[in-house]
Amino acid sequence: MELSVIKEGNALLYIPDTRSATLKQGIIEPTHLPVFYNPVMTFNRDLSVVVLDAFIKKHLNNKEVAILDPLAATGIRGIRYAIEIERVSKVIINDGNRDSYRLMKKNVKLNGLENVVVHNRDANSLMRSLRFECKELLNIIDLDPFGSVMPFIHAALSISTKGTMLAVTATDLAVLGGSKPVAAKRKYQASLIKNRHYRETSIRVLLAYIARIAASYDKVIIPLMSYSVDHYLRLYLLIGRGARKADKMIEENIGYFTYENGIVLYDKNGRLGPIWTGKIMDEDFLREVLERLISKYRYLETYKRSQHLLDMLIQESSLQTYFHQRVDTICKHQHKSMPRMDKLIERINELNYRATRSTFSATGFRTDAPSDLIVRLCRESIS
Ligand SMILES: C[S@@+](CC[C@H](N)C(=O)[O-])C[C@H]1O[C@@H](n2cnc3c(N)ncnc32)[C@H](O)[C@@H]1O
Repeated sequence: MELSVIKEGNALLYIPDTRSATLKQGIIEPTHLPVFYNPVMTFNRDLSVVVLDAFIKKHLNNKEVAILDPLAATGIRGIRYAIEIERVSKVIINDGNRDSYRLMKKNVKLNGLENVVVHNRDANSLMRSLRFECKELLNIIDLDPFGSVMPFIHAALSISTKGTMLAVTATDLAVLGGSKPVAAKRKYQASLIKNRHYRETSIRVLLAYIARIAASYDKVIIPLMSYSVDHYLRLYLLIGRGARKADKMIEENIGYFTYENGIVLYDKNGRLGPIWTGKIMDEDFLREVLERLISKYRYLETYKRSQHLLDMLIQESSLQTYFHQRVDTICKHQHKSMPRMDKLIERINELNYRATRSTFSATGFRTDAPSDLIVRLCRESIS
């Protein structure tokens, strides 16, 4: 395998020569590489470094932590955690691919790291054996698969304990978001239809799926941060324990929705779902992440983008339990042209309701105003 060396964050990294996987217009197809590396995910990894740092401070009282990256490819994620986050005593990186294992070893050496352990195992059997045979206590588990994370959720939850952080990336938004209803039923036991709100749908469908599995292990999930950009979604979940708590979590946070006239509404008797209807982020935690970003991580390549995303998430978090709506979709159903977003938000505020833009779409907003009012405002087409 021909290699090149790059720098990402504060880590140096051998990656496979990308010429063999370069498509038209210079775009790289990472799955064509002998070992996966996707430069588009630098934003995901940059932000992960900051989120994990904030988590160690806020939820683990700055104690020494152990992190598991069981689907590691080049090892970049775990290696960056070992280099860029303080208080990391051990990182375990693993990949089932043999070429990947050799490359991870080289990358650990290249960065002179002694606290990073490399494995070449099936991720699920590694997770279970670390916990049940080796009695390892893992504070953070980061799942970053190709496509669906579903095959790794049972093992990750079974080894999580009170206070563990489970971080999850998923790129199967077409399934989770409703564009492939048959696959959504098969993989996530969710009834969905195609909708234009697929980013939030994906997050809430996956949260409901993970919550139900967590409950079956008498565990709960508390979402600290959830977002979807580019081709993926990302969740950061705090795990808790207790059968009663699990019953309460399911009772209070799992529900259904309807999708009519371009509006998404929670509906106890709805036919779509199940989805997570509760909070998808913790505003205090987001503020901690933003504070860590500004105070420690200005060197990140995606610093500005990270700051912008966090600002927007903080802004929309007070209305986060209201599903985001899309002004273009509502207006299309009313055969009206679209009002300007700022005008619409201003008008909703004048009527004593709250409204804010949403990260899920450039035409997306969250509001506590009733749906008939939103439709009426769109019909009036504020100019
Ligand atoms: C999307 S890549 C990981 C990317 C990496 N975390 C990063 O940030 O660059 C997913 C990796 O999971 C590995 N993988 C897939 N199924 C696996 C399994 N059951 N056990 C171990 N590794 C697996 C693949 O070989 C691939 O390298």
